[in-house]
This record gives sequence, structure tokens and C-alpha cells, in this order.
Amino acid sequence: MTDTPNIDDALFQNFDPARLFEVKRSTHAPRILVLYGSLRERSYSRLLAEEAGRILTRLGAEVRFFDPKGLPLPDAEEASHPKVAELRELAQWSEGMVWSSPERHGAMTSVMKAQIDWIPLSLGGVRPTQGKTLALLQVCGGSQSFNTVNQMRILGRWMRMMTIPNQSSVAKAFHEFDAAGRMLPSAYYNRVVDVMEELVKFTWLTRDLNDYLLDRYSERVESAEELSQRVNQKSL
Ligand SMILES: Cc1cc2nc3c(=O)[nH]c(=O)nc-3n(C[C@H](O)[C@H](O)[C@H](O)COP(=O)(O)O)c2cc1C
Repeated sequence: MTDTPNIDDALFQNFDPARLFEVKRSTHAPRILVLYGSLRERSYSRLLAEEAGRILTRLGAEVRFFDPKGLPLPDAEEASHPKVAELRELAQWSEGMVWSSPERHGAMTSVMKAQIDWIPLSLGGVRPTQGKTLALLQVCGGSQSFNTVNQMRILGRWMRMMTIPNQSSVAKAFHEFDAAGRMLPSAYYNRVVDVMEELVKFTWLTRDLNDYLLDRYSERVESAEELSQRVNQKSL
């Protein structure tokens, strides 16, 4: 006997885990979009993002970057602005993302946040970020901090993304890259490899299952109510 009388059993059927085993899995390379949050000429968050991109390519992913230079502040231009359109297309294309931001005054940079603020939760019936995987990286000028990855984790939740548990914060980032901009071997580098491995694995695991994973009971209740209202109006 059920102890949950307020749950509509008919709508609960969608929860059936058997749906997971009916999904046809795709085999193309996982598509990862890499965003970084700095416009500095020698930017360590960009260098870290590029290093992450190389590792992702090595792990079999297809990687694209967005250059935030020239992106207007949110709402300062129409969404038809070419940089905004480029960012939105990349977000739609991607199956997972990497966000790499510097820490400034204990927070992610405005450059980082502006990119996310230009990506709407819903775009022509498609949700460009919902259910996609996300890995977080930050660089610090000082000793190691986690303020920025922690904030981006909240932002990832707001964008309804699946933020992976592992993350990387590179302390005193100016010590960690050579003159050519390559990351030096270190425990920090190995950690970035760990994070990228985890991102690719979670992307393989989840990308074809979003219809099931993102299907919400409350939304099913709402659409059933809307449908019943439409039917009732027609019969009047
Ligand atoms: C205005 C300003 C504020 C900063 N605040 C912090 C901070 O709160 N914590 C920290 O670790 N580093 C701080 N830094 C150092 C930056 O994180 C560091 O320079 C980093 O390399 C900048 O990223 P980028 O190289 O990608 O531009 C600050 C730098 C600036 C210019």
C-alpha cells in the first residue's frame, strides 16, 4: 500500500529505470566547450584552459574554445551581436564544458560571469546548458583558494549543469607555466589530468541519458494539468 497519496501514479511511471536500458548510446567524440575568464595577454587562466584542452583532445574529446574578447556586457547589446551568437552556438553544440577563471577579490571575474549570463536557460525550446557536464578550474595569484570554484559550482547549479566532483585550483599560478605558456610538470598538472578524465567519463556516461535524467515529476504534473485544461476548454 502506498504511503505517498499525493503522487499521481500515472505520472510516476516515467521514473521507471528500465528507460535507462533502452537508450541507444552514441559513439562520437564528446564535445567540450572551454571558457576562460580573463583578457590579459599572458593570462594564466587561459593557459590553464588551453592545457586542459590539450588533455581533453588526448582523451578523445572534440574541443572548442570561446575567446571572450569583444563580448559585450550582458544586455548592453542585442543577442544578435556576433560574439553573443558565437557563444550561444558553441553552448548548444557542446555536451560538456570547462570553466577556468582567475580569482579576483575573492570572486570569479566579471569576464567569466558575463559569458554565463549571456547563455539563456532556454533558447528556442532548446536548453543550452541543462544536463551538460561541467568541470571547474581556477588560478590564484596568492596562496591556494577555492572561492572561485565554489562560486562557479553555484553558478553551474543555476545553469542546471552536472558539475563533476573533482576540481582544480592552481596557487601562485605565475610559477606554474614556462615562457612558452606550457604548464610545468607538478601535482597541480596531474590534478588537471584527473579533472579532465573525470569530465570525459561523466560526459560519456550521461550525455545520451538526459531525456531520462532531466525528466521532472513536477513538470509532468504541470503539463498534465495544462493538457486537461485545454481538453476541458475544447469540450465547453
Ligand atoms: C584586482 C585584482 C584582484 C585580485 N584578487 C585576487 C584574490 O582575491 N585572490 C588571489 O588568489 N589572487 C588575486 N589576484 C591575482 C590574480 O588571480 C592573478 O593575477 C591571476 O593570474 C589572474 O588571472 P589571469 O592570469 O588569467 O589574468 C587579483 C588580481 C587583481 C588584478
